[in-house]
Amino acid sequence: MTPPPDADPSAGDKILVRDVHKTFSTKKGDVQVLEGVDLAVRDREFLAIVGPSGCGKSTLLNCMAGFERISTGSIEIDGVEVTAPSPKRVFVFQETGIFPWFSVWDNIGFGLSRMPFEQKHEIVMRYIRMVGLDGFEKSFPSELSGGMKQRVEFARALAVDPDVLYLDEPFGALDAFTRLEMRREVVRIWGETHKTCILVTHDVEEAIELADRIAVMTQRPARIQTVLDNPQPRPRDPDRREFRALKDEIFGILGVERSV
Ligand SMILES: Nc1ncnc2c1ncn2[C@@H]1O[C@H](COP(=O)(O)OP(=O)(O)OP(=O)(O)O)[C@@H](O)[C@H]1O
Ligand SMILES: [Mg+2]
Repeated sequence: MTPPPDADPSAGDKILVRDVHKTFSTKKGDVQVLEGVDLAVRDREFLAIVGPSGCGKSTLLNCMAGFERISTGSIEIDGVEVTAPSPKRVFVFQETGIFPWFSVWDNIGFGLSRMPFEQKHEIVMRYIRMVGLDGFEKSFPSELSGGMKQRVEFARALAVDPDVLYLDEPFGALDAFTRLEMRREVVRIWGETHKTCILVTHDVEEAIELADRIAVMTQRPARIQTVLDNPQPRPRDPDRREFRALKDEIFGILGVERSV
């Protein structure tokens, strides 16, 4: 089988998406969402996927995690076909993912239930510190701000030592200021963990601030239109020339005249 155009075996591809088609059958007929998606995600990279609203970004992410079956084509992680979800592939959604009746400690330790207490406590406290929630381990979600809940969500995802982290608009529920703060936190946490991360976002600036490469999808039925490298050193400054140039380039590809 021919590898997708941006596949570079020497870079250590982690996920290979080849000619993926996905059609949903509904009462009103078939909805063709993905039409020939080719994408290679490298090991330990941070990849962002941007594209027009409703083009199939979440569908692609769900297929890559095994939550949604593809119609044709193939998706492999480390050479193994993805056919079902795995506890090693973890999603971070908006803040709603955490359990309101569990404390911060219990939420973060949720995926570690079969472990001896001492070991579990060490891991939970490591991630509580990593996301900056020291002192809040006994608090309940109702006592936390939106940004703090999001930190719990990230800590819970990282605590299970996932193979791949899937982020679908993870900052969507946050106010503008907290969103900026959380982006910076994610850059820092990613720098410490170097997990393979795939972020779906409609926010081009967010994609540029976080990702090593940015895949731009077409309108539905979608394919990957292009994948852009983003080698700017972190932390990235939206006011820098390279940042603005990349933003304009992506807006140009998406068919939006110029960035604001
Ligand atoms: N389970 C489903 N059954 C039928 N159609 C679906 C299903 N899930 C998604 N779709 C359709 O697939 C298309 C793509 O949806 P998807 O949620 O993947 O887009 P998206 O790019 O993530 O959108 P947004 O930017 O709004 O988050 C939409 O037209 C949607 O209605
Ligand atoms: Mg979506």
